[in-house]
Amino acid sequence: MTIIIDGKEISKKILAEIKAETKLLYDKYEVKPGLAVIIVGEDPASKIYVKKKRQTCESLGFYSESYDLDENISEKELLNLISDLNNEPSIHGILVQLPLPKHLNEKKILEFIDYEKDVDAFHPINQANLFSGEPSILPCTPFGIIELLKRYEIKIEGKHAVIIGRSNIVGKPLSLMLLKENATVTICHSKTNNLSYFTKQADILISAVGKPEFIKADMVKENSVIIDVGINRLDTGKLVGDIDFENVKDKTYAITPVPGGVGPMTISMLMKNTLITCKKLSF
Ligand code: GUN
Repeated sequence: MTIIIDGKEISKKILAEIKAETKLLYDKYEVKPGLAVIIVGEDPASKIYVKKKRQTCESLGFYSESYDLDENISEKELLNLISDLNNEPSIHGILVQLPLPKHLNEKKILEFIDYEKDVDAFHPINQANLFSGEPSILPCTPFGIIELLKRYEIKIEGKHAVIIGRSNIVGKPLSLMLLKENATVTICHSKTNNLSYFTKQADILISAVGKPEFIKADMVKENSVIIDVGINRLDTGKLVGDIDFENVKDKTYAITPVPGGVGPMTISMLMKNTLITCKKLSF
């Protein structure tokens, strides 16, 4: 029987653990994890993500600040806000929702966030720490994937992990995290020749490409573990991943569904990062 990896359930458990620790922190030291969430403009998908992040903060007993900024805000104004938040002791995490409007220099803005409050782990210092194998903050989606594998007791060491996608948010950091767990790692991408040659070798296959149901049953190894990071909306309105789930699942040992797999883990790990930075900055 294939294991359907229940990200929703694991995510709930993690949030319950965070909530319990948050209460303990407050009862004992009157310290509350504080997260500032900044959104610039009106991108509908970003607004939904940000709303969910803010609601989750509230449900955990975190302190949260919300900044909904005008599309036309100047770079200087945004940097001033980040500077204030960098210096604000009640704030332990600063999240600037991406993408930003074109006139704002995303790299400059992300680098301006105090790296100790960088709960997305996008700052060059946090990227470098991950590169050297001594991370203090991990990027949320790859962190969630590793957590799912561990909580399902899926062995990583010695396995061939094949990642499709080389983004700075998922593919690249995940490759480093899997290496640290002693996997053998292959990264494939849109220019890889003969993709299925690689995917068929994967003990653990992670797809983060954003092409609906693009990985078919004949592209995966028998009894492998499949992690689907894709979230694609079909014209019918249905949400599907990168994996042709219905036809692939019976061939696998374990597989994440979409929705309800990797997706819910990302917010949980953001909250976990905020708790981690809170403890680091408070004690
Ligand atoms: N936009 C899409 N994913 C993310 C994310 O993980 N963090 C931020 N800040 N913006 C995003």
